[in-house]
Amino acid sequence: MNTPHDEASAGAILTIDLGAIVANWRLLQGRAGRAACAAVLKADAYGLGAAQVGPALAAAGCRQFFVAHLDEAIALRPLLPHDASVSVLHGPMPGSESAFVAHGVRPVLNSRAQLDGWRALAHRLDRELEAVVQVDTGMARLGLAPEELRGLAADPQAWAGVRVGLVMSHLACADEPAHPANAAQRRRFQLARRLLPAAPASLANSSGIFLGEDFHFDLVRPGAALYGIAPVAGAANPLQPVIRLDARVIQIRHVEAGTAVGYGATWHSERPTRIATVAVGYADGWLRSGSNRGTAWFGDVPLPLVGRVSMDTITLDAGALAEGELQPGMAVTLIGGGAELDAVAADAGSIAYELLTGLGRRYTRRHVGACHGASPVAT
Ligand SMILES: Cc1ncc(COP(=O)(O)O)c(C=O)c1O
Repeated sequence: MNTPHDEASAGAILTIDLGAIVANWRLLQGRAGRAACAAVLKADAYGLGAAQVGPALAAAGCRQFFVAHLDEAIALRPLLPHDASVSVLHGPMPGSESAFVAHGVRPVLNSRAQLDGWRALAHRLDRELEAVVQVDTGMARLGLAPEELRGLAADPQAWAGVRVGLVMSHLACADEPAHPANAAQRRRFQLARRLLPAAPASLANSSGIFLGEDFHFDLVRPGAALYGIAPVAGAANPLQPVIRLDARVIQIRHVEAGTAVGYGATWHSERPTRIATVAVGYADGWLRSGSNRGTAWFGDVPLPLVGRVSMDTITLDAGALAEGELQPGMAVTLIGGGAELDAVAADAGSIAYELLTGLGRRYTRRHVGACHGASPVAT
């Protein structure tokens, strides 16, 4: 995909450590005890490349994968072993049911209408079709509501032709272990299961794994933690960092005290200093809300971001460095090293999920990291 020439001319390089993702999956599998550990690869594996992350996790033993859209599943399916399942969290849009069968991917049925569409296809094909069923246990987003489940339980034909491969729900407050919604959702989940055909169960996302064994059921579904995002707010992060973002300096200028920097002249230098203009902007997912906030690093020297984030550039106060130490073409680090992903996102008033999934398409992406003794892969 990217050639060495790309790296030489790149404005910024995003390095994605597949070995760290695999190590994180193994740690989560260990925490999940007897439950199996799936991988959530929606939004192109949270922006890090489902085509690379999926096969790396499959090689490590992961066999259950979740994406949001049918198109994501269709792209991923051929890259995974035959005995792996790919489930589509949004379920079928009306009329798209047969594409799930054609591509060998499982829908998550979230509503009565989705169930009816799936059952109708099973009837037309005259064969049993597998699906995941999602129940709403208190998030009011996706899933069958308790009253719908009661109606279905009273209808002997409701599940005719549908094999329920998994019953799942999703936690709203799992990153806050003391939140009473966690136990309430777990109770409702257990009640809901009694109204459904017997099947393995899954409730926990990344943070849910850390709520303990009661939340693990048969399968856990981490996304964020695979990619190094801290699962519990305010607690030490047991996961390995996965990405590093290095961006190149385009130009360095001396400025006098009182010089305005960037759109809107929102920052003025208090002393003579040097401003380094770097090739990353909000078009690359560097959030504009991070204007005048946050830090880039040159080695262990922090360089504050000053002025507004532009579409293609940010500006740094490089006054802490000696003259000539930082030059055009050299790189500063925006994520990785001293710059932890969660802290970088918080600096911009956001969360690491949003920062990761928003990282733009202009970066030269390097996938590195040995899996199962294989030599490092660069794509
Ligand atoms: C239904 C469902 N399960 C699992 C996940 C993975 O969650 P997390 O990234 O917090 O681990 C998501 C992501 O939002 C989801 O929507």
